[in-house]
Amino acid sequence: MTQYKIPTIGGDGIGPEIIREGRKVVDAAGEVFGFDVDWIEYPLGADHYLETGELVSENTLKELSQHKAIYLGALGDPRLAPGILEKGILLNLRFSFDEYINLRPIKLLEGVETPICGKTAKDIDFVVVRENTEDFYISIGGRHKKGKSKDLLEVERFIYSTKFGLDIETDSEEIAYQIGMISKEGTNRVMEYSFGLAKNRKQHLSSVDKANVLSDMYGFWRDTFEEVGKNYPEVQTDFNYVDAITMWFVKNPEFFDVVVTPNMFGDIITDLGAMIQGGLGLAPGGNINPKGTSMFEPIHGSAPKYKGMDRANPLATIWAGALMIETLGEKEAADTIVKAIEQNILNKKVNTVDMGGSSKCSEVGTDVARLVKEIGKS
Ligand code: IPM
Ligand code: MN
Repeated sequence: MTQYKIPTIGGDGIGPEIIREGRKVVDAAGEVFGFDVDWIEYPLGADHYLETGELVSENTLKELSQHKAIYLGALGDPRLAPGILEKGILLNLRFSFDEYINLRPIKLLEGVETPICGKTAKDIDFVVVRENTEDFYISIGGRHKKGKSKDLLEVERFIYSTKFGLDIETDSEEIAYQIGMISKEGTNRVMEYSFGLAKNRKQHLSSVDKANVLSDMYGFWRDTFEEVGKNYPEVQTDFNYVDAITMWFVKNPEFFDVVVTPNMFGDIITDLGAMIQGGLGLAPGGNINPKGTSMFEPIHGSAPKYKGMDRANPLATIWAGALMIETLGEKEAADTIVKAIEQNILNKKVNTVDMGGSSKCSEVGTDVARLVKEIGKS
């Protein structure tokens, strides 16, 4: 029997509850498909931070880096200012393990209703590949009033005088800026991954940018897309401005196969993607480093107001568990989990409140686990 060791981070809010159900389903798949998971719990999140003052220790990072996959619930807690846990834990892990691909399938399952009138499961089935380590997520910026420190003043003076001819000391009371950066290496690798993925799907790759305005950074993104594309003549390509693609996602979702996007635009368009596939309760994601440590999570947040109520929808997390075991090589088990999720929805018997049912989070997990065994054995 194959043995896996997988670290799990329940995190905050509903995180621990949904992760528990995800583990239940992965364990059931293991029983049928002949593998066993040794889950290693890491109590990271708001409670841990408030108790110890620690977000993620060097030692924890080192331990986590020994593994191929991490299973994450959700982070975020109203007791703390926005960004502390998000940047201190989630982005810290994504960046520390160089998880440069954020893979977000946008797939409408049979039995799920999309808010887009007239579209069915055959119309909505694509994958967004979000660059995950660069762009406006590099955390370089500043917010300063008059009388600020000298070095920052120099940076600002440079930005403002070269771009706008402003002398910030006399013309501005207070300024703020945030710098986006993409590198050749970082852009190349996400393009290679996306073309590779498209080649094995419907051979269509769409790129997202805003090269008409942010032309330095996204002009470079476009050039790299075209360069890498030369090695994949079988893959059809197109460019999309980010504003326009939000429109096409709604109007013609069937047009898309694989979509490659810079980090921040990817953050935005995948929430839209989640809605067209039936809501945040059904949207999984993987933060992937193909040669290192990857991390799988639902794309929704920690929903603090539902904490401990056993009512959150665990399906996105369960689906993320399927993506996780697929990257570990358990493709058949992963496909079976997705089929079981679909069957659970079609049965319309054991569903959480957001899906029109009245079942508990734990009951949905148990039902999907049962269906995994039923479908897997047949
Ligand atoms: C996501 C989230 C994160 C992001 C936040 C919580 C830092 O919105 O995974 O989409 O912006 O990437
Ligand atoms: Mn987001």
